[in-house]
Amino acid sequence: MKIAPSILAADFANLASDIARVADDVELFHVDCMDGHYVPNLTIGPPVVAALRPHTDRFLDCHLMVDNPGRLVQAFADAGADGLTIHVELGDPRPLLREIGSLGVRRGLAFEPETPFDAVEPFLGDIDLLLVMSVHTGYGGQPFIPEVLDKVRAARKLIDAEGMAVEIEIDGGIKVDNAALAAAAGVDILVSGTGIFGADDPAAAARAIRAAAS
Ligand code: DX5
Ligand code: ZN
Repeated sequence: MKIAPSILAADFANLASDIARVADDVELFHVDCMDGHYVPNLTIGPPVVAALRPHTDRFLDCHLMVDNPGRLVQAFADAGADGLTIHVELGDPRPLLREIGSLGVRRGLAFEPETPFDAVEPFLGDIDLLLVMSVHTGYGGQPFIPEVLDKVRAARKLIDAEGMAVEIEIDGGIKVDNAALAAAAGVDILVSGTGIFGADDPAAAARAIRAAAS
């Protein structure tokens, strides 16, 4: 299992020290980029990714919750993003996934809790990462929606049957108490924001989530 703390729950005034506290216990950092249009919240853009880049060699997994991701992918790639995930709800993702791939960045596709698996299934051959949202995009700290695990199971089954190189990531409300459920459904990467940075000892929380999932 890979663990991806969401820096949305970190202290934005102390990002470098917050990521340093957990870096030894995680594989990725999940970066929630929100534009105030696709979701009401407004968070992180390419300048912050560029500022973080010299502080970590961990994978920077950027989740774009923006209306027009096509305007930003080059800037995120230049900033040092390792992965860029776009939402299927915006329409045919293929042209942009192709562009992301051509920038040498891992291609991710996300879908909201109410969006059916059928909506992403046609694109599994075009991506490296499938991001299953287990809360509605916009804010950290929301309760986990267990019904999305059916979509994880469907994705796991198809990816394995076809031998596809697609990782399954789950995002939203992941804590020690539901990490095992997500792992059993077939998740490869657990995103956790408040479950890690909201804990008194974030590194211990990351280790506890990993232990619960294995
Ligand atoms: C929600 C974000 C999530 C969020 C997860 O829009 O995509 O990545 O930071 O935070 P927690 O783990 O607190 O639900
Ligand atoms: Zn996210």
